[in-house]
Amino acid sequence: MIICLCNAMSDGDVRAAVAAGAARPKDVYACCGGRAQCGCCTATVLQILREAPTAANGA
Ligand code: FES
Repeated sequence: MIICLCNAMSDGDVRAAVAAGAARPKDVYACCGGRAQCGCCTATVLQILREAPTAANGA
């Protein structure tokens, strides 16, 4: 599902960026070859970041 219309970025793209080490929305946009524009997707990107398994949250 597309979550960022400005960068044509899907939830799968965001999860792949997080798996590759993106830790902040800025990192996610950069990893997907874009940048924050309107900001409408930031809450969703943050939610995916918070839900992602990381070493910091016990994964
Ligand atoms: S929808 Fe993601 S920056 Fe606009």
